[in-house]
Amino acid sequence: MKKWILAGLCFCLALCLCACAELETTEPEYVLTYAENQPQNYPTSLGGERFAELVKQRTNSKVIIQVKYAGEYGTDEEVAEQMRFGGIDFARVSLAVVADEVPMLNVLQMPFLYKDAAHMWRVLDGDIGKEALGAFQETGLVGLSWYDSGARSFYSTKPINSIQDLQGMTVRVQNSQLAMDMVTLLGAEPVYVDHNDVYYAFVTRKIDAAENNWPVYQYMEHYLVAKYYTVAEHTRVPDVQIASQRTWEILPEEYRDIILECAQESALYQRNLWVRNDIFARATVIDSGCEIIHLDPEEKLCFQEMVQPLYKKYCSDYLDLIKTIQNDTVVKTSAGE
Ligand code: GCU
Repeated sequence: MKKWILAGLCFCLALCLCACAELETTEPEYVLTYAENQPQNYPTSLGGERFAELVKQRTNSKVIIQVKYAGEYGTDEEVAEQMRFGGIDFARVSLAVVADEVPMLNVLQMPFLYKDAAHMWRVLDGDIGKEALGAFQETGLVGLSWYDSGARSFYSTKPINSIQDLQGMTVRVQNSQLAMDMVTLLGAEPVYVDHNDVYYAFVTRKIDAAENNWPVYQYMEHYLVAKYYTVAEHTRVPDVQIASQRTWEILPEEYRDIILECAQESALYQRNLWVRNDIFARATVIDSGCEIIHLDPEEKLCFQEMVQPLYKKYCSDYLDLIKTIQNDTVVKTSAGE
């Protein structure tokens, strides 16, 4: 009988040991937060999800990143602020809301800077893009990777065929002094409204117009309340994945390297998704009967001239760099080749 009891005890002990060993291998060392202000099926959100999966895989579940969507952690600017204190660990935000204080970052969101998407990627994938990611340090953040956010154009409740039509319109802008100044220079009245409240601002007639890319126009259903889309493509404001400097400093170097590598891989994945979603969004809004207006080249030139003062105001020390970018003499050096 004693033998049986002893065997039973040994068996239980062995089970406990196995369970403990199991726990030890799957117990995460770090559970970190990630903020995303778009809905869960939007390309940047899917990029964030891929980032978290890759980090989990490559750290053998030692680092877990929990992604929260649709602005659950607050607006982009609230998120960036909390990140400076280490309250949130990672996020994907628009460059517009973190660039105001840093001229080098402002350079990359200036109006009429890039000819097209390929031109923007030559800049962001090269030395300038790398230097700009480094410039995040000045803001208590760490720049990890660039995400695509397409080109921004105006959309409105009344057609905008010319700059003249913008006069006196109330235009929603991001929480960015540069965006406010741009709209003021065009003769309209800028109003800051959070990304997730733009639809409602159209419905309540707080705003007559907004400016954003095709996917936001479609995914956020702005096209249902603002039927005119004027293709100005005045800016390409990239999105960026960032980490809190405070979090970064406590992570072991081995994990930092993995996280950086996964952020960059997720960015290439997001870039591909973006291209498909951009086409899909365009087709959806056209099918639904929205009116697409193409600004004629003279109007575009006039637009370009009206916003010239922004270059001096925001990037006076970087005018040569801006010229280099605009002339497209930048050599592509790294990722995305
Ligand atoms: C971009 C960006 C969003 C941002 C939005 C805006 O589309 O991807 O994160 O919120 O611009 O205009 O607010």
